[in-house]
Amino acid sequence: MIKRKNIIKIAIDSPAAAGAGTLAKQISKHYNLLYLDTGKAYRVLALNKLRYPKKFNLNFAKKKINNLKIEDLNKKELLSNKVGAEASLIAKSKSIRNIVNKFQLRFAYNPPKKFHGSCLDGRDITYNILPDANFKFFITANIKTRAIRRYKELKKLKMNISFGEVLKSIKLRDKRDFTRKVAPLKKTKDSVLINTTNLSKRACFLKIKKIIDKKILLNGNI
Ligand code: C5P
Repeated sequence: MIKRKNIIKIAIDSPAAAGAGTLAKQISKHYNLLYLDTGKAYRVLALNKLRYPKKFNLNFAKKKINNLKIEDLNKKELLSNKVGAEASLIAKSKSIRNIVNKFQLRFAYNPPKKFHGSCLDGRDITYNILPDANFKFFITANIKTRAIRRYKELKKLKMNISFGEVLKSIKLRDKRDFTRKVAPLKKTKDSVLINTTNLSKRACFLKIKKIIDKKILLNGNI
């Protein structure tokens, strides 16, 4: 695997709808990093499994991921609750994870030259994909806050769903993500915990920025 030297690598893990995506985007923009929402790759496969249940197998998944471009991750249909739930099901499979991991590693260690580095968020980034990240964060918020945030996001996208359904789905995904045998969601000892429950987006960003800037200042670089 090609690895660019001296790049900034930021790893973020978090349960669903904790605000990690918003933060990761802000951080990436501020430090000129390539941002990769790793859950989207699982969602692409989940969407394909829902659409083509008979065709879907490991080879099919491999082809989809090999041809996947970062721009493909922005599609609205990937955001539905149904796709999210299916993603957490297929993410239990070691073979599926191996396929998705290759895609993630490519962007994590070899982002396009115009970027100073990469920032990835997901469930196993801090210890599986970017164990040597310069910065590691575990972002969380209480379940009700997360469900309210996701509900508002989905409503903004005009998706037909109730708050109860969103809450149930987040609880189910938490259970799957925290307890699965392969690459479970966990906070590593070397990750900084950020609880976003009572913090504004700006406050969260500034908290993380302070940590990053302090290290850069101390080391002269990363
Ligand atoms: O982050 P997002 O909610 O889009 O992720 C969808 C699902 O993909 C998660 O519930 C999780 O099961 C899976 N996932 C994962 N590992 C990652 C990112 C996402 O298992 N690094």
